[in-house]
Amino acid sequence: SHDAGPFLPDSPKERSDLAALRRAAAGCRGCGLYENATQTVFGEGSAGGRVVLVGEQPGDQEDRQGHPFVGPAGRVLDRALEEAGIERGEVYVTNAVKHFKFKRQAGGKRRIHETPNVGEMRACRPWLLAELRALDPDVVVVLGATAGKALLGSSFRVTKLRGRLLALPGLETIGTPSAAREIDETPPGEAGAQVVATIHPSAVLRAEDRDAVYASLVDDLKIVAQALR
Ligand code: URA
Repeated sequence: SHDAGPFLPDSPKERSDLAALRRAAAGCRGCGLYENATQTVFGEGSAGGRVVLVGEQPGDQEDRQGHPFVGPAGRVLDRALEEAGIERGEVYVTNAVKHFKFKRQAGGKRRIHETPNVGEMRACRPWLLAELRALDPDVVVVLGATAGKALLGSSFRVTKLRGRLLALPGLETIGTPSAAREIDETPPGEAGAQVVATIHPSAVLRAEDRDAVYASLVDDLKIVAQALR
């Protein structure tokens, strides 16, 4: 099957253990992306933390080093978190897809990022769900459109939902159209986990008006900081 499911640990105990999940994910062949990537880049950070940040997929640096958000986008994220009053030490950082997808420039060495497709996002979802089950965070932060679609369904739009504290849909509906419906229908602030969507930090690096786009990222993260108080 085209799915990470069979690569997850068998025992329920190991399935809720981040170290066991990480070991199992290192051998994942649930979609074709493992073939060209250097390694699986699993989530990392504070296991007792109340915040899980979800990006798209590892970038070039992350693929080489084996850690999420250690390249240019990670530096933007670190700075924005600090400015919003969230310590990197209190968050867990992961990605919707755990292998780097890229194409090579014709004749060149540079590896150009490619957005994972819906099948790859779906194939990788069992890892993200397992991380969320193991961590049971108070707030999930969706960084950009790919993470948003992976968690909240294909109708997700950053521009529509960003910067608002919303009720996190039940994990059994994650990634399905009912996730988007639940978001629309559940009043925020009710008991249970919350979700906040914002732009991907790499959007800051691509923007012409970097300062304004960066400030908007910090503003959204301040909503997260507030929810933690
Ligand atoms: N972009 C992401 O979405 N994730 C990373 O880990 C790095 C860059």
